[in-house]
Amino acid sequence: MISKVFAICVAIYIIGSIQNGLVQSFEIQLKNLPRMQQGLGWPHTLTVVVGHVVLMKLTKSAINQNSCEVITPSGQTFASSSLPKDRYEVWDTSCSLRIRNVHSADSGRWRLTSTNTTHSFTGWIEVYVEDDIKSYQAPPISLLDGEQHPDLDLTSLDNSYCLVTQPFSQSSLVSGHCRVTLDKATRAVQGNWNVLVGLPGRVTELHIDRHVQVEAERLDVGYAHDSNNNKIHLYCNILHTAKIVTFCRFQKTTNDVGYNVMEGLSDGLHR
Ligand SMILES: *[C@@H]1O[C@H](CO)[C@@H](O)[C@H](O)[C@H]1NC(C)=O
Repeated sequence: MISKVFAICVAIYIIGSIQNGLVQSFEIQLKNLPRMQQGLGWPHTLTVVVGHVVLMKLTKSAINQNSCEVITPSGQTFASSSLPKDRYEVWDTSCSLRIRNVHSADSGRWRLTSTNTTHSFTGWIEVYVEDDIKSYQAPPISLLDGEQHPDLDLTSLDNSYCLVTQPFSQSSLVSGHCRVTLDKATRAVQGNWNVLVGLPGRVTELHIDRHVQVEAERLDVGYAHDSNNNKIHLYCNILHTAKIVTFCRFQKTTNDVGYNVMEGLSDGLHR
């Protein structure tokens, strides 16, 4: 390990001395790792949605620059002084490029090179072009009334942050995946939740409506009359609950004795 590090240092030193006088060398430290890997391109990487504008430049360029050269991901080379006018232009005094109306073919590595009579600086920018998301639909979120610490997943999008506004409540900013944990589900959280989502590569936030419904626990009882056999089928259930029904007791108002109703159980008379 130590010998490897030493070898790398020697290699850097040799390259540094060969290039001295030709190209300005820069100090290499571990905290400069992105610069070592990406050169002088700004930004190093950029995710952008189709139709947006991309700005890129060199963080260091030649004084008395003679030329600023752009190489596109497909290998086309342009001098910044003679860029095709349709989508490209210079936006900065250094070596820079603005690309309007980005499309998917713009994905890839863009190279910029600034040169004067004695020096040359190169950097590259990795551009990832993604499709735009125009809207997001999802079914209502259903919670059980009184549920403790329910987790609400508000989108399945790969968002960087979101701003969530519950009904009758202030907004809260969530960084990373758009998820909210409530203390307890109550009727107060029921309604339309307004969610603004920050997506990578898109400047304007995406607006999403999520409907939240809070279902109260409720008894579902009744009977079905079987007129052929002149029998009554009794049933009982608890809706919107995590509880399990262990027994049901039915009683006729005219009788002292009730009926222990269980699924599949009959005594021949009662079922
Ligand atoms: C070229 O640019 C470098 C770096 O900015 C600078 O040090 C050098 O003096 C420039 N050369 C000329 C001839 O202007």
